[in-house]
Amino acid sequence: MTASLRILVTGATGAVGSVVLRALTAAGHRVHGVSRRGGAGPRQHVWWAGREEPPPALRIRWDAVVHCAADTRWNLPDEEAEEATVQPLRAVLSLASAHTHVLHLSSSYATGLTGGVSSPSRDDYRNSYEWAKAASERLVRTAREGADIVRFPLVAGARADGALDRYSGFFWLPAALCSGAIPALVAAEKGLVDMVSTDDVAAHVTRLVADGRPARHRLTILGRGERAPRVREIFDSMRDTLNSWRSAHGVPPLDRLPSVTPEQWNRFHRPFAEQYLDRAQLLRIAAFQVYQGYLSVTEPFDVTHQVPDMEQTIVRSVRRWADTHRRAAARIPQPWYDRRTASAGSSRGS
Ligand SMILES: NC(=O)c1ccc[n+]([C@@H]2O[C@H](COP(=O)([O-])OP(=O)(O)OC[C@H]3O[C@@H](n4cnc5c(N)ncnc54)[C@H](OP(=O)(O)O)[C@@H]3O)[C@@H](O)[C@H]2O)c1
Repeated sequence: MTASLRILVTGATGAVGSVVLRALTAAGHRVHGVSRRGGAGPRQHVWWAGREEPPPALRIRWDAVVHCAADTRWNLPDEEAEEATVQPLRAVLSLASAHTHVLHLSSSYATGLTGGVSSPSRDDYRNSYEWAKAASERLVRTAREGADIVRFPLVAGARADGALDRYSGFFWLPAALCSGAIPALVAAEKGLVDMVSTDDVAAHVTRLVADGRPARHRLTILGRGERAPRVREIFDSMRDTLNSWRSAHGVPPLDRLPSVTPEQWNRFHRPFAEQYLDRAQLLRIAAFQVYQGYLSVTEPFDVTHQVPDMEQTIVRSVRRWADTHRRAAARIPQPWYDRRTASAGSSRGS
């Protein structure tokens, strides 16, 4: 039997941290959580890491610290991404003593455009999130003699029912499909979208904690790897799931998005959009642009631990998202229109 350890989970109210906290508690450990706003229960602490001094309750001897806190927005200005992700990590590492087992949760996308995290240059990453996650990995390696770094790709909900404490990251997509924020499926024909369940991450972290602190740095990578689903499959399955939910709730179905390659989009559609769409539409296009890189990954991620098939978990997660975000799931997509025609129409009406 594994000894009961005193463990701190940061980001304990988030999509991943909440499940990690429950899994470690179920494994018999004495687990405390911390987040900016705090969660329910006596073992949930409030601390904005990187901005405030840690409260006394956190300055105790931890057997393990599982660092899940991060700002997962992909479009923060560089300086803000650094403040939101790297500085909190530095503050959390100050709570760890030499004997503490540090487990740092990272992202498969931290390897950016070069396939590694060693470059500090922002140009080697698709966005500030990747860049900050790569800097975080480098910080863990220099600050600690031995630590676990766990990378994984996009996260879906629980395998049994798709439940998530917070629908961050990937769940921008079903919301955008229902609101009409996505004009087309801009993706490489063979683009892959690798995903894992929160259960996979929590079970993996629980095993690593049981294994104990590694003498050196240990990198493990979860995912489907070369078996990851294709972008078109994910979109079709998401649309089918949303349409079956919409049909059950008397809402008209969503149309299938036209497919466009990133080259076609950037050469023809985007310049056209910039000429003819209004400001609000252009903002939607810019928000979507941030996701484009993720739908254009054609090389599978290397994985050290392949997770089971994700198809049903994705379906359950999207259905669960719709059940818990009824207004967003029942929206009628706003049509894309040409601002010149729209203003001609309004002047005719006045
Ligand atoms: N979601 C994904 O698809 C995905 C994919 C790959 C890797 N990851 C990685 O997995 C980890 C967890 O992500 P997630 O999806 O669970 O994120 P999330 O749902 O957005 O939750 C973030 C958590 O971190 C806390 N937090 C953020 N900044 C903090 C700070 N400065 N001090 C204290 N707490 C802070 C938040 O607290 P509040 O409740 O107060 O906001 C929340 O508990 C991150 O390292 C992320 O990079 C996530």
